[in-house]
Formats: sequence, C-alpha cells, structure tokens
Amino acid sequence: MRLDKYISQHTAATRSLAKMAIKSGRVLVNGEVVKDQGRKVSDTDEVCVNGEVISQSGEAYILYHKPAGVICATEDEEQETVIDHLDGITHKTLHLAGRLDKDTTGVVLITSDGQWSHRVTSPRHECSKVYVVQTADPLSQGLIETFKEGILLKDNPKPTRPAELEILAEKEAKLTLTEGRYHQVKRMFGACGNKVVGLKRLSVGCVEIGDLEEGDYRELTEEEIASF
Ligand code: URA
Repeated sequence: MRLDKYISQHTAATRSLAKMAIKSGRVLVNGEVVKDQGRKVSDTDEVCVNGEVISQSGEAYILYHKPAGVICATEDEEQETVIDHLDGITHKTLHLAGRLDKDTTGVVLITSDGQWSHRVTSPRHECSKVYVVQTADPLSQGLIETFKEGILLKDNPKPTRPAELEILAEKEAKLTLTEGRYHQVKRMFGACGNKVVGLKRLSVGCVEIGDLEEGDYRELTEEEIASF
C-alpha cells in the first residue's frame, strides 16, 4: 500500500495531511526518513509519524480481559468489538484465537499470526480452557461424574470430551474443557437442567487472566507464545 494511504488509514490524518507530513520529513519507515509519498509499505514495516510508531512490525500476540457487553468480532457497525479496545495495537490483520459470548468475561487471545491461532483453537491440540461458572440452581456432586463422562449436545453425535468440574460453592463451579464447541459451557449445564447466569474464562492453555483488569490488555510473553 502507498505510504500516504497507509498513514491516513492508521491515524486520524487525511490523505493530504499525510502527504504533507511525508514531504516535511516527519515520516520514518523502518527508522529512515522517507519523502516519497508513493513508497510501498506493508504490515511488516514500522511506520513512525511525528516520533510516534503507528504500525508495528512482526506478529501481535495479545491477551485481552474482555468485559461483558463487548463482542468477539473484528468489526461491527453497531456494537463495540474487542479490536476497538486495543488502542495501542496497530497491526492490521488482527483476528481472534477463539471467541466468548457477549455476556462472558475473561481471557480472549488476539493475534496477527494465523498458524498460531490455529494451534490455539484446533481441537486436535486439546488446549485446556478454564472457566468459573455461576448457575441459577444448586450444583449436585453427581455432575462431576456426568461432566467427566461427557455430555451429548444436540448438534453433535459425539459426547463432549471429559471435562473437569470442581464445585466451589452451592451455585459456583470451576470447569476445565479441552475443546471449544459453540456455547459449550452454557449448553453443557443446560443439558443437565441448570442455567449459566455468570461465566468468566480464567485461562487458555498457560495464559491466565491473573490481575489484568477488565478492559485491559497485555502482550503475551515469549514463553506463553511458544507454549501453543
Ligand atoms: N461457553 C459458552 O457457553 N460461552 C462462552 O462464552 C464460552 C464458552
């Protein structure tokens, strides 16, 4: 893409303001002043305008603490998406490595690396996801065995993979899954005659929400990235 277009897409500047910034030597590509407005740049280039990086080179690997009310999509005309909340991240090709429902909170992983997100989400990799669940009705001890044995959900002839349920309180449990079917947690409890009224994802693989505040994000560590 042309440099002036790239700047106007990544900042609030119009195309003509972008051209002026380039002409006056205020634009650096990979650390060097570029005065050619038509210079081609891509997502692998680092573009800096007025001393501020507006794009990042390399891949992005982000942990976002999703609040309720934000949707897991990259774009939406009416609703706030998780991508709208990643202010400082300017990679253009971000996508989500797994989704949460609008009312679910907790760990969402976002990346620009398609192969990595495939490893996170592919059922073959059996990546574990830990949830804390609040239910409408009390939880019986018998559910632990039911979840371990697997539950038949309507759209699939195979039962769910063995899941670990730990009852924390009368209507609260910790659930560990190694697959990610559509609305899986809610449907598993629903199939057992209960209803999920609160759901938070605490971790995906070794990536834990820890003390990251709702609505905040951080970059993953090298170790976290390599663990998938
Ligand atoms: N299972 C659900 O039912 N909802 C989520 O958001 C995540 C897992």
